[in-house]
Amino acid sequence: MKLANAFSLLTDLRIAVQVAIVPTLTSILRNPTLLFRPYELSRVFMANVWAVFGDGVDTGGKEVKEGLITPNAYGVVLDIGAGHGHTVRYLDRARVGHYVALEPNELMHQHIRAQANAAGYHESDGMWPAGKYVPQTREEPEDSVGSWVKGQMPVEDEDILVYVTVGTTHIPRPEDWPVMPVEHLTVSFKPNSFFKANPSMDVPGTKDPLSVNAFGPNAEGQACCK
Ligand SMILES: C[S@@+](CC[C@H](N)C(=O)[O-])C[C@H]1O[C@@H](n2cnc3c(N)ncnc32)[C@H](O)[C@@H]1O
Repeated sequence: MKLANAFSLLTDLRIAVQVAIVPTLTSILRNPTLLFRPYELSRVFMANVWAVFGDGVDTGGKEVKEGLITPNAYGVVLDIGAGHGHTVRYLDRARVGHYVALEPNELMHQHIRAQANAAGYHESDGMWPAGKYVPQTREEPEDSVGSWVKGQMPVEDEDILVYVTVGTTHIPRPEDWPVMPVEHLTVSFKPNSFFKANPSMDVPGTKDPLSVNAFGPNAEGQACCK
């Protein structure tokens, strides 16, 4: 790093302290316990710095970001250290399906949401990698197969379409290289509580003369195995 650049960092730091010191002191006056929570205090300080600098820094880097991000970002974008989420502005909505922001400073989150929503990304699009709900969600969500079943919707003569979505965690093995074998997945549907017992228990055997119908129109009206 050139000496001049090193000194410019000090200048930036001085300006950052200048812009953030008053609102940060105000926060301390309102909530003195911040003095004993240095991590929280640093978040308040940085939120105040970024509230002043965020837009300007973004405008300064606009040309570079447009050249680097817009043509190259596609699929799912993970924005690490999202700040106010300015990066989402440079995503092509047609090429980037999901925008995931990782930002440890919660005070920035409302700005990220606003930027993302303005760019057409919403939490309702799917907040978790596995879909709408985090894996192993404790409560049964309203919008789930279990709730649909409780709804007692008629199923007779209805075309029921079920999509099975499965995510596998691939734990690589030496055998997976250079060509990974196919991962086989089998799904079977079995009736559960459709009947009180297996209906075949009431079918008379063809070879056993002592076996007779116990129920129905042809029932012998007596115990089947005298
Ligand atoms: C200078 S801001 C940049 C914001 C944004 N990337 C932009 O270009 O507008 C850096 C951000 O990174 C966050 N950050 C700091 N340490 C981090 C870490 N270990 N992991 C993820 N984010 C971090 C800070 O809270 C801050 O909001």
